[in-house]
This record gives sequence, C-alpha cells and structure tokens, in this order.
Amino acid sequence: MMKLRLFEMERWQSTWENRVEYNLSESGVHPLRISELLDGNDTEFLNRPLEYTQSNGTDELRKIIAAMYPGTEMENVLVTNGSSEANFLSTWSFAERGTEVVVMLPNYMQIWGLAKTLQAKVKFFRLRERDSEWKPDISGLKKAISKKTKLIAVCNPNNPTGAVMREETIDEICNIARKVGAWILADEVYQGSELDGRITPSFWGRYDKVIAVNGLSKAYAMPGIRVGWIVSTKEVASKLWSYHDYTTICPTALSDYLARKALQPEMRRKILTRTREILRTNLPIFTRWMEKHRENLSFLPPQAGAIAYVKYNLKINSSKFADRLKKEKSTLIVPGDHFGMDGYLRIGYGAPRDYLSAGLNRIDELIQSIRERA
Ligand SMILES: Cc1ncc(COP(=O)(O)O)c(C=O)c1O
Repeated sequence: MMKLRLFEMERWQSTWENRVEYNLSESGVHPLRISELLDGNDTEFLNRPLEYTQSNGTDELRKIIAAMYPGTEMENVLVTNGSSEANFLSTWSFAERGTEVVVMLPNYMQIWGLAKTLQAKVKFFRLRERDSEWKPDISGLKKAISKKTKLIAVCNPNNPTGAVMREETIDEICNIARKVGAWILADEVYQGSELDGRITPSFWGRYDKVIAVNGLSKAYAMPGIRVGWIVSTKEVASKLWSYHDYTTICPTALSDYLARKALQPEMRRKILTRTREILRTNLPIFTRWMEKHRENLSFLPPQAGAIAYVKYNLKINSSKFADRLKKEKSTLIVPGDHFGMDGYLRIGYGAPRDYLSAGLNRIDELIQSIRERA
C-alpha cells in the first residue's frame, strides 16, 4: 500500500490558520474582495448557471492564459483548482516507482512529498546563500540528475526564500535537463509578485519539455477562488486533462468567470499594482522589525512574494518555536523544519499593516521570553 507522506506545512496551516489571532503563515498578500473584481451589479455573474464548466477551463479563459505564454494556444493550457492541483497532476503523471525526480530545496514541499508517496526516487539540489543571494547550486543539480531523471521540479520565484533566479540560471537549468531529456516542472505561482515590478521570466519557451504552473493565489491575491493552470505542450496538456477527470473534473463556474475578469489586461495590471504596493509598504515595516532583533535574526530580503525566510540563532528548535508562538501568543508562522531546514522561520508579511505589526509584537514577546530564560 502507498504510504502517505504528510505535507507538514499544509497540515500545520490547515489545522491552525483560522484558529489563531494572527496568521503570519500566509505567503500571499491580503486577499482581494469579489466586489473589487465585479461592477456593483454584475447581472451576468448573478445569473450564471451553477453548471459543470468546460472541464479543462472555458475556451475564453484558456485563450486569455495562452496569450501570456508566447507560442501557445488554448490547447496548451489546462485550468486546475489551484496551482496545487496543477502540481499534483503533473507529479502524479510523471513520478512512479523506478523513476527519479529531482527537486530544488527549499521549496513548497508538495512535489517532494507527493513524489515520495508515489515511490519515485527523490533527489534534490539546494538553493544556497551566496554573495547575499539565494542561488541554485548548479553543480549539485548536475550531480543529482541521471538518465532516469523524469522530472526536475523548480519553484521560481521561490517559496520560502522569495528569491528570483537570474535568466542565465534558468537557461542553465534547461541545458542540464536537456542532456538527460528530463521534463522541468516550473512552479511559477509567485510570478507577478516581484517587489521591483519586473515580471520573472517563465521557463516556458526556453526548452521543449517544460510544464509551467501558475495560478491566482499569490500575485493575484485570490487564493479563495482556487484557480491555477498548467501550460505545456499540447500533448502534455491533453494528457494531464485526462488525469484531471479523476480529481476535480472542472474549475467551478464562479471561479472560471472571476478568473476571466481578473486576467483582463487592465484588471490584471490593477491587481498586480495593488500587490506590489502592499509588498513595498510592508517590507520596510518588516525590515525595521528585523533590525530590532539583529542580535538574533537575519535574512536576505525577498525579491518576490510576501514571505521572509528568517535565520535565527536562538537556542530553540524551529518547530518548537512555532508551536510555542501558536500556543502562547496565538500567532502562526512556518518553522524551517517544514522545509527540512531547522534554524529558519518563514514569516508572511503581506497582511494589513496594523495586523502585521500586532503579529510581529507577539513574536517579540516570545523572543523576549526565550532570551530571558537563556
Ligand atoms: C510554490 C507554491 N506552489 C503552489 C502553492 C499552492 O497554491 P494554490 O493551490 O493556492 O495555487 C503554493 C501555496 O502556498 C506555493 O507556495
């Protein structure tokens, strides 16, 4: 029987995120409201039949998505319920006993855990802190791959570090994959949430075996509508669609409609500007807070996403720290342990300012108590 590898971070968030006073475990910015997407009285929306939609996404939505990826048409696109379903379908279809999957770490650990559950051999290469940047260890990737490598999974911009790969690094990874004919599964869900406003280039179009994953949960601030997508060759998009028949069948009628609204060029610009403004306002607040704790905390500021990956030198395990913070201070963050990296904490900084500051104050209190005891 297959033994499920727990997805520790999601289990932690699923259990507690709506049960604490301050949830700083989120990696996206404060969500949009439906009313920010629709005109006051959108009768088309209100009169929509709650039907099964075209199961791989309406033609209109897939055309809008295809327009964002040069050289693609709607047949290259599969709309999914969140980018997590896109990752799931891709991993499920490629990873099995006897195949090798190489995962960039740290990462959103879904692909890692699922590939292990499916009994693929999972190898990894690391992002390392070098010259004040988190950079992929390319020689580690070269060592990890082999003729058996089916899939190389990368996350760019990266969760949890918020690092963005340089364009030449993307090409380097494509060249390495090409040598063994491996597919690249590029989770690009933080694309569009760059603080400097420069959209991270996609892996799509740089190599012929790419599955690009994206969705509306992060840069678009709409995690609640559960819209993600896969862009790949027409053959792979069609194959993954048949896997989708076994999971959720189709995007919800409401989500498909709202996603089309969100991705209209003008609305898209508006949403991404809102996201950037939140990030640019909040990161200085977060950085000032970090400065107060410079004896114990340090970080490389994120280039994208509402996440800060903080290194600490307090004498406490990261899960223990997060657990005490939850229990004693009703505040949720993600321990580095969930990324296989004790000594780090992932703190979301995308919430409204007052809420963020109040949550950070709770962390102050815990740090104070740990220091006093030491
Ligand atoms: C890198 C990455 N991929 C995928 C997901 C899943 O997001 P969703 O299913 O909401 O699109 C997340 C959520 O945190 C993530 O960080």
